[in-house]
Amino acid sequence: MPDANDRPAADIHTSSKDAAGAPLGTAADTSEVFQPSEEVISAAHIKDWEKTREDALKDPVAFWSERARELDWYEPWTTALDDSEAPFYKWFTGGKTNVVLNALDRHMNTATKNKIAFIWEGENGDQRTMSFFRLRQEVNKFANVLKSMGVKKGDRVTIYMGRIMEIVIAMLATVKIGAVHSVVYGGFSTEALAERIEDARSRVLITADGAWIRGKTVKLKNIADDAVARSGYVEHVIVVKRTGEDVNMEAARDYWYHDLMALPIASPVCETEVMDAEDPLFILYTSGTTGRPKGVLHTHGGYQVTISTTLKWVFDIKDEDRWWCAADPGWITGHSYIVYGPLIVGATSFLYEGAPDFPYPDRWWKLVEQYGITTLYTAPTAIRGLMRFGESWPQRHDLSSLRILGTVGEPINPEAWKWYHKVIGGDRCPIMDTWWQTETGGHMITPLPVTPLKPGSGTKPFPGIDMDVVREDGSTCSPNEEGKLVIKQPWPGMLRTVYGDPERYVQQYWSEFKSQGWYLTGDSARKDEDGYIWIIGRLDDVIKVAGYRLGTAEIESALVSHPSVSEAAVIGVPDEVKGNAIHAFCIPKAGGAKPTEEVLKKHVREEMGPIAVPAKIELVDKLPKTRSGKIMRRVLRAKALGQDVGDLSTMED
Ligand code: PRX
Repeated sequence: MPDANDRPAADIHTSSKDAAGAPLGTAADTSEVFQPSEEVISAAHIKDWEKTREDALKDPVAFWSERARELDWYEPWTTALDDSEAPFYKWFTGGKTNVVLNALDRHMNTATKNKIAFIWEGENGDQRTMSFFRLRQEVNKFANVLKSMGVKKGDRVTIYMGRIMEIVIAMLATVKIGAVHSVVYGGFSTEALAERIEDARSRVLITADGAWIRGKTVKLKNIADDAVARSGYVEHVIVVKRTGEDVNMEAARDYWYHDLMALPIASPVCETEVMDAEDPLFILYTSGTTGRPKGVLHTHGGYQVTISTTLKWVFDIKDEDRWWCAADPGWITGHSYIVYGPLIVGATSFLYEGAPDFPYPDRWWKLVEQYGITTLYTAPTAIRGLMRFGESWPQRHDLSSLRILGTVGEPINPEAWKWYHKVIGGDRCPIMDTWWQTETGGHMITPLPVTPLKPGSGTKPFPGIDMDVVREDGSTCSPNEEGKLVIKQPWPGMLRTVYGDPERYVQQYWSEFKSQGWYLTGDSARKDEDGYIWIIGRLDDVIKVAGYRLGTAEIESALVSHPSVSEAAVIGVPDEVKGNAIHAFCIPKAGGAKPTEEVLKKHVREEMGPIAVPAKIELVDKLPKTRSGKIMRRVLRAKALGQDVGDLSTMED
């Protein structure tokens, strides 16, 4: 943990004027309110937001149990919340279920069976649709393939692919047979993938030859080959053919997905494994304060309750909707709101492979029009990026099918919020600014469609979620006072541990407010006079770049793995589109040739992936450090922004 002297102001927007989630453009006005229309209110599942929140908070366990009863269970639970080993909470213990039972199996008895589960479009215009019935057949077939490779309940399977239907099939098939997936985002590169394979000890890796992005291909199989060579656990690699380019296929290790799916073993009949509510469902690696990414572990029983309830209530999902969560399945947003949530609630989803601005900046708006998308959920960075191209691109398209919009991943500045509301939402669609984390499984602070909205605020906690903004001593902050954002009671979709490292779980999330038993989010925030929460930023060494969560330590370790770098420090500085940009400072090794900025950028790209490449790398002779040897990132940041460096009394030199 960073010490108090070196609070890394990495990507905290500290001045009070721009604090309210509004680092970019116009400052937030906490009194500006957008009221929902009569039409939105009359359609909404939940009509009385405040009363629903109030009632749920009287007894959150009863509230969540009621929601859990809306799902299917092979056997009911005996205890809704077991806190006997807190903070290792258990939900719905004794219950038997499987997320796939709710996502696919139970729909076979209703009209949802014949409904479209996914409409997919490739960047090159390829199209595919799949009903719930067909998706289940494909999942069963692939589940049988995995079984034939010896994958058993509890085994970890790593999945590394682009946004194609097979990633959804692979995730569901893994879960169906009781195995645990670890999806690694396709934008990561060799070292990041190798590290995650190794930590999970995956014997099977599912990947693709490549992925399309902006008319070019990312050579996923090549990266996978290097990662497999580095990590040493993988025995089998299953490869989906997407781009059709030549790839190396190693005999007896690598198999084409389509070949396996054509084998007699790939029968469309496969029993769903009966799981305990607390059996592991997936591991998803995310950045934290050390160089080693954390494997956030979610389980079957509680996760499905949190994500299905939030999706249904926040986005008011109806049978006639066409839901588009424009995230990547490789992130928690994709896990919860592309794959599991929409399938559980029986929604028709749209999945798009490529970039928003390819071949032209209206690709997304064209897709909304073409497929009649009703609900669009994306990140502020995407909105800011598309906003830069101007209004004429969206205006070429009929966006009147849209009903509700959403954002996630980072604070949205009021300027982008208003553009999204007016230009995309035609002043008619409420914007659900949802705050949550990989660790929380689903939405935690979010409006419902009937909520009066303030641009830049996620409003208040979801019903049944107890959160506050507190001081160091745990007392509640006064209105508009900045403090730490905490969650005061357990919730079903919470992470259960850090995979293989329970101590880190306790230390990271539950040690700061140990006596109170609160979960530390790592974010700072403030609450206004109306109780609306405004996120300010991270309090730890995490930088949010274009909504991606990156640890300064991970990027620094990628930089020092270059032979010519002896030390590195990384900070986040505000960026108009991406929220934050990465700036790196490197000390070159004595005696050798100085590396160029380009060489180091290329190295980070190869090790970690394009998302982690610093916008700027400076070579320096020294880094500011505390006497205990910790890098004072706040000093670097102040210098980079031309600000006062503040108190330097703890600095070594
Ligand atoms: O800092 C908060 C920011 O993203 C962090 C969680 O990142 P990750 O685990 O990658 O999950 C992102 C998708 C759920 C949070 O600690 N964050 C997320 N949503 C918002 C946000 N910051 C402000 N407003 C949001 N709506």
